[in-house]
Amino acid sequence: MFADKSILRIPGPTPIPPRVMQAMNRPMIGHRSGQFSALLAETAKRLKPIFGTEQDVYILTGSGTSSLEMGVVNTVQPGEEAAVLVSGVFGERFAKICERYGIIVHRLEVPWGEAVTPEILTPFLKERPQVKAVFATHCETSTGVLNPIEQLARVVHEQTDALFIVDAVSSLGAVPCEMDKWGIDILVTGSQKAFMLPAGLAFLAASERAWKVIEQVKPLAFYLDLKAYRKSLADQTTPYTPAVSLVFGLAEVCSMIEEEGLPNIFSRHVLMRDMTRAAIKALDIPLMTKDQYGSPTVTSLNPEGRFDAEELRKVLRTKHNVVIAGGQQHLKGKIFRIGHMGYCDPLDVITVVSAIEMALKQIGTDVTLGAGVKAAQEVLINHV
Ligand SMILES: Cc1ncc(COP(=O)(O)O)c(C=O)c1O
Repeated sequence: MFADKSILRIPGPTPIPPRVMQAMNRPMIGHRSGQFSALLAETAKRLKPIFGTEQDVYILTGSGTSSLEMGVVNTVQPGEEAAVLVSGVFGERFAKICERYGIIVHRLEVPWGEAVTPEILTPFLKERPQVKAVFATHCETSTGVLNPIEQLARVVHEQTDALFIVDAVSSLGAVPCEMDKWGIDILVTGSQKAFMLPAGLAFLAASERAWKVIEQVKPLAFYLDLKAYRKSLADQTTPYTPAVSLVFGLAEVCSMIEEEGLPNIFSRHVLMRDMTRAAIKALDIPLMTKDQYGSPTVTSLNPEGRFDAEELRKVLRTKHNVVIAGGQQHLKGKIFRIGHMGYCDPLDVITVVSAIEMALKQIGTDVTLGAGVKAAQEVLINHV
């Protein structure tokens, strides 16, 4: 049917609003022009409320991982120690980046699908007060867990003098994350999730405490040297050629966020999570995460042998034009993940649930058509 009507419900990249696409189509301008300088300075300021910070937010050209790497390489040096909280693929990515730079890593691992809690973190850090930084993932996209970052920040600062560095790639802009209030020292994210843009921009903000450390570090990466970005932003520019079209789009995204308002955006995502979870429970498919830690941006399901997750995804894609994500690493082929973030609303959730019900029937699973849709509708009606 309509190839461009594909329904993209993966946890990033996410759909792009038409007005953002239009903004990105503007004719190119010089990145050293006064016009771009004004746009950059203004847009960087508009990111501050999303980060919950008074600090400057740096915009770099790169995918989310570049901001993770920037957080590592500017704070901890080879031979120094760091703790990394690993609850899935992206916590592990932080650990791998640290190891690549010769940092001694203390991994705190929890089973995939579970959250890192203050009760687990406290004794772990008590035994390792010497770590220079603690790295954590807000939403662990591979499992759909939202780690309790505010409480973890408290533990980090009680137990150590370490910097607390947080990957909010699949949460910021959809879930509250108050960098200054919670005591996050470095907060990083990317453009292709709740920011409703293509991949290609990454964002980072650092606390005053973090800057004291950054100033002492000579990073081993040239492109990711944060001090260069600070110097440039003070002159309303970037050290290297920025993705100008994406910055046009970002300014439009900021307008959309300001128009809807962050509190409304956060409650829309909670509603979409609750609708998804209610539907999945009604369909009797096991959820990977407990309700308490279920992310408002992505929900993971584990059919546990009831049906083949990959077969379901294939039927969704080929018969209904609906794209959902599979599992990563050892969960590949076993689980599937539904993205509900960014340019996504409650009726989109009902659409994807309805398609899942039909696809389940088509692959021969015993399912009552409409059961999940009804559960999601009830959550929605009770909300509005
Ligand atoms: C939590 C998290 N961190 C980091 C990344 C890496 O981002 P990128 O693929 O844009 O480099 C992702 C991407 O899915 C993510 O979900």
